[in-house]
Amino acid sequence: MKPLRKAVFPVGGLGTRFLPATKAMPKEMLPIVDRPLIQYAVDEAIEAGIEQMIFVTGRGKSAIEDHFDIAYELESTMRARGKSLDILDQTRLKPGAVAYVRQQEPMGLGHAVWCARDIIGDEPFAIFLADELMIGQPGCMKAMVEAYNRTGGNIVCGYEVPASETDRYGIISPGAVDGALVEVLGLVEKPPLGTAKSNLMIPGRYILQPEVMRVLETQEKGAGGEIQLTDAMAQLIGRQPFHAYRFAGRRFDCGDKAGYIQANLALALVREDIGPQVRDFAVKLLAER
Ligand code: G1P
Repeated sequence: MKPLRKAVFPVGGLGTRFLPATKAMPKEMLPIVDRPLIQYAVDEAIEAGIEQMIFVTGRGKSAIEDHFDIAYELESTMRARGKSLDILDQTRLKPGAVAYVRQQEPMGLGHAVWCARDIIGDEPFAIFLADELMIGQPGCMKAMVEAYNRTGGNIVCGYEVPASETDRYGIISPGAVDGALVEVLGLVEKPPLGTAKSNLMIPGRYILQPEVMRVLETQEKGAGGEIQLTDAMAQLIGRQPFHAYRFAGRRFDCGDKAGYIQANLALALVREDIGPQVRDFAVKLLAER
């Protein structure tokens, strides 16, 4: 079994749900407290032992490249002022450990992933959707890698949502359950309400075998007229082991405004530096209503 070394971060999306904030700034750079969303995803990948980060970008996304690069002027000024550069540590990815591919047209998640096929080559790879913020110890991908080392094949994260939300996500048809591992019998992208086979959605964390790239090559458009990763993954069921790993930590859908605010509040409250201050304010604010 080949170890998991590479991760794909599809970051080409337009972020229309966060306009006007995202008119001139990638949605992946929106901060949760003081770190951009994409940084949380990359940190989760590093924690899971992933060595190469592949970003599938598009026009207007150069802030992401700059974020993971050396900021010469900033660093030399901070150094001259005697300031510690520790805070920038995780933002400087190792030379050769980062690659950028452009997705010229927004044709769907499946198409974005397929754009990275030559860099992935013949290896298993992870995918992170940065607007899904997964908080846990261990992190979501680290836990998935531990599961992967036992099962091999393909693993998607699974997360329980209310039945009223199943039409927004990729939904799992579950089979046999073994602790946190659930056999995947089927996958459907955004099933109409009332038709979902479970409440188990895929919150944007995947470990996939390279064969999915071959499937994506000829994948027809699916839900929303886009080339869907979920449809391509569904083709692998029965051909390769396919499991879902139920993540026990917390999930914030930061592609959604309420989810984004909730993430900021939850993460601010547990911070040593600002937590108490934010808590006091929140308590007072709620008492006013
Ligand atoms: C994408 C995936 C979907 C997944 C979701 C998680 O949908 O296609 O399967 O459940 O992300 O946020 P999108 O949010 O791009 O519509």
